[in-house]
Order: sequence, then C-alpha cells, then structure tokens
Amino acid sequence: MKGIILAGGSGSRLYPITQSISKHLIPIYDKPMIYYPLSVLMLAGIREILIISTPEHINLYKILLGDGSRVGLKIFYKIQTEPRGLPDAFIVGEEFIAGEKVALILGDNVFFGQGFTPVLNEASSLKEGALIFGYYVNNPEEFGIVEFDKSWQVISLEEKPNNPKSNYAIPGLYFCDEDVVEITMGLEPSQRGELEITDLLNDYLKREKLRVQLLGRGFAWLDTGTYDGLLEASNFVGTIQKRQGLYIACIEEIAYNKGYITRQDVQKIADAISNTDYGKYLKMISQKEETHK
Ligand code: TTP
Repeated sequence: MKGIILAGGSGSRLYPITQSISKHLIPIYDKPMIYYPLSVLMLAGIREILIISTPEHINLYKILLGDGSRVGLKIFYKIQTEPRGLPDAFIVGEEFIAGEKVALILGDNVFFGQGFTPVLNEASSLKEGALIFGYYVNNPEEFGIVEFDKSWQVISLEEKPNNPKSNYAIPGLYFCDEDVVEITMGLEPSQRGELEITDLLNDYLKREKLRVQLLGRGFAWLDTGTYDGLLEASNFVGTIQKRQGLYIACIEEIAYNKGYITRQDVQKIADAISNTDYGKYLKMISQKEETHK
C-alpha cells in the first residue's frame, strides 16, 4: 500500500502565522507538524509516501525530509496548484498511486492512543473498498459526520451538517482500494468549488464497500488547524513525552524499531544534533535493543 500526506491548503485560520510558512511545518511541541501524520503512515508499515503541497512550500518539505532514505522510506513530492479539495490528492497522486491501494492522511491531523498500531496494521492490509474511522466529538457540526443505525451499520455521511445526526466525526485518515482514482475522477465540485471527501466516501457507501472503525474513549485525535488546536496539541505531546520519557512521532525511532535503519544510523543522526533533547533521545534509543511498544 502507498501513502499520501496532503500538506497544501491555505491555512487561512492560522493567519498571520501561515502568511509566510506552511501550516504543516509549524512545530507541535518539539517537531514539525508533518512528523505526526508521517509517523502514522510509518506505523501502518507504508514505506512509499507522496507529500503534496503548494508551489510555494514544496521545497521546504524536500529540505526537511529529502528522499526519505534517512528513515528507510521513499518519499516523493507533488504540487497541488490550488486547494481543490481533499480527494484531489488522488488525482494529483494518480501516477504515484499507479493502480495500487492507498492511504491518505491530512498533514494537520495528530493521532495518539494505545492499540493504534494494530489498528493501522489491519487497515493497511485492506482487501477492497474503503476504511475510515469514527471519533466522538462535542462539535460535530465542524466535521464530516457518520450516522449509524442501532446495529452500528453506517446509514449516511454528511459534511459539516447544521443538524448533525451523530457525534461521530471522520478523522483525516482514509484507506482506499484501487478504485479510488476512478471514483474521484467522476466527482463534481461542491458549491464551495471543491471536491468533497464525503462525496467520495458516499460512493463507496452506496456500493456497500465502506467500513467505519470507531476509535474509542482515551484515544486522541487532535486537529491542529486553529490557534487553540495548535496549543492544545503541543501541550498534549509535551505532557505525555515528559511523563513517560517516550516520544510521540519520533520518525527515527519508528524506523529503527521497524528495522528500516540500523543502530549506527540512529547514532549518526543523534551525534549531529547531540545538543538537543531530540538528539539525546535518539542516543538513548540507539543504546537499547528495542524501544518500548
Ligand atoms: P483544511 O483544514 O480544510 O484547510 P486549510 O488547511 O487550507 O486551512 P483553513 O481552513 O485554515 O484555510 O484542510 C485540511 C488539511 O488538508 C490541511 O492539512 C490542508 C490540506 N489540504 C490540502 O492540502 N489541499 C486541499 O485542497 C485542501 C482542501 C486541504
């Protein structure tokens, strides 16, 4: 399975911060935002990843992540000239996807919770259709929403409804089969002039090929698109990391645990940044056989 990180858009809710920098490079506590969605794809075992961003910002991602080989990945880059909507990722990424299954994650979504890795492993072994997640929120009118019947079968999907039929929002992580490009090609832009992810998912739903997996209480899905969201996510990551001494979204650690890079590789990266806490953390994990689960 291939992976796409959508890191374009206008970031208008974060002006003036995003006047000159890309939203997904803003730090969440101690790392650039994009490390968080990147780590999710890595935990899902996905090693070929396309980063989509704007013409102004794409080079900054190349500077940050290069060809990905430092963490055992193959990273590719593509420009989205205008924010034409989330499913546009499948059109911009058509050549990269090359008829395979694909996971799309939004560059401003942070996920954290016990048992997430097995969920991701199962998701990335998707056989057909699409798999998305449902997450209980207290402001459902701001998200795409899933409605269930009494036996938890999906009845409908709605984008930012005025009168939400449930509190289950759809986080920005979508696993799709080979049909996704063709289905997206057939979508019409909505009234706001964008291709809508709910239209794409509704197509899968109509064909009875949509599966929604609920992420339970105690799981954190954080949206970092607003000032408060940014601050809350930073505080969340800082709190957990300080309490446990284990990092969230340390891409070198994930690469090491997955066997993509060697202890020596981690040590080399650590030595180059030994004056930082991040460098000290890498040094520490490189001295262990295996870091914590
Ligand atoms: P949004 O939060 O919907 O939009 P935005 O990031 O442009 O921010 P704002 O609402 O403040 O103007 O986008 C969700 C994510 O998807 C975000 O990481 C940006 C990305 N995105 C694209 O890369 N291309 C697109 O066409 C759209 C709509 C979003």
